[in-house]
Amino acid sequence: MIILGIETSCDETSVALVRNGRDVLANDVASQVQVHARFGGVVPELASRAHLRLLVPMIDECLSAAGLALEELDAVAVTQGPGLIGALLVGVETAKALAYASRKPLVPVHHIAAHLYAPFLRGEGAPYRHIVLDSSGRPSRLPQASSHCGVGQAPSESALDYPFVGLVVSGGHTSLVHVHNPRHFELLGETVDDAAGEAFDKVAKLLNLGYPGGPRIDALAERGDPQRFALPRPMLNSGDFDFSFSGLKTAVAKLVREQGPESLREDSQLVADLCASFQEAVIEVLLRKAAGALERTGVSRLAIVGGVACNRGLRAAAARYLPPSVTVVFPPPVLCTDNAAMIAGLAWHWRDMAPACPAHVEAQATIPLPSLPFSADSMLEKESARVYKFTGGRSRLRSSGRRGHTR
Ligand code: KG4
Ligand code: ZN
Repeated sequence: MIILGIETSCDETSVALVRNGRDVLANDVASQVQVHARFGGVVPELASRAHLRLLVPMIDECLSAAGLALEELDAVAVTQGPGLIGALLVGVETAKALAYASRKPLVPVHHIAAHLYAPFLRGEGAPYRHIVLDSSGRPSRLPQASSHCGVGQAPSESALDYPFVGLVVSGGHTSLVHVHNPRHFELLGETVDDAAGEAFDKVAKLLNLGYPGGPRIDALAERGDPQRFALPRPMLNSGDFDFSFSGLKTAVAKLVREQGPESLREDSQLVADLCASFQEAVIEVLLRKAAGALERTGVSRLAIVGGVACNRGLRAAAARYLPPSVTVVFPPPVLCTDNAAMIAGLAWHWRDMAPACPAHVEAQATIPLPSLPFSADSMLEKESARVYKFTGGRSRLRSSGRRGHTR
């Protein structure tokens, strides 16, 4: 069964083809980073316009690169939410038209649930094409069927199995989730203010490192001293699984003021040490809280997903903060940041959730993580007309700053 996935929840337009929920046949991502860079954050209107311009040609290109016709697909899947509503609408309405015209089921997928599925994807030899748009929103490199630009590929097998604890760390979300199976998610805790990626981006802005800040802080931290500045570890001992990063950002702002703009401009070691100290504070809080969640749930597997999971310091620190009995899995970087392969992959497990008519799928800026009824694979084979209901525990997965506003 081949599912075409569409992802447009924020500033990446992505189209992918995944077979049987596992094998990635294609994963094309167009990144709008340069479009938003001069504004220091995602501008929702610009994101929607770029999705609108790119999506249909990317669907065409993805299918033709894989040598597949629309008729050969078994279903279409799309990110329903959470995300920027205008951006989501472009994906959802396009997917509805595509599914309706080709008489395929349309599976609505939860973006965060899909991030938590990324570690299960396999992609040996599959094309992962990355298109970077220039600041005017035009592709600086058009996707060519012949030039597959590898930016990291999924491994041939995953070490992960259910149940596991998922640490979701992206520009819009920071949460700890007990993932019982691909349809049952239990939210353990989440950020009460900024998301981890948002904190990286804001601190990078304070240090004049440009947008997005995560990768730049990551690179500078490698040659910095994480012990030089003693920064707070917010909510480390709060006794729950919630996070808070806005106070940490304020502490960095105070240090920046104390050091003065001249030192920041002229002393590159100072900037590297600030980056390393900030990054270490974030990493320690994330991993110690994840360790607590593993202990509380009695689970021994941890998956770290979302854009911040690309961070090299975080990847290297896992062994330092987690007991050796814990299996830690990070998806390859290309599947950590937003992509449609995770949407098409999870849709295979949710395919009975396609409504009778694709027109019934609606984009939603906020949706709680679901606990979907029944998961036996034999039942999943049946075509059903149910629209999914959310019955999950804490039902307040926030759509925070980055997805709602520019910063
Ligand atoms: O998952 P993602 O692509 O989009 C959302 O769903 O939000 O995450 C983007 C976030 C940005 O805040 C970016 O700065 C951060 O992920 N990020 C990183 C790194 N690469 C991306 N943060 C820290 N280190 C990185 N290497
Ligand atoms: Zn995301």
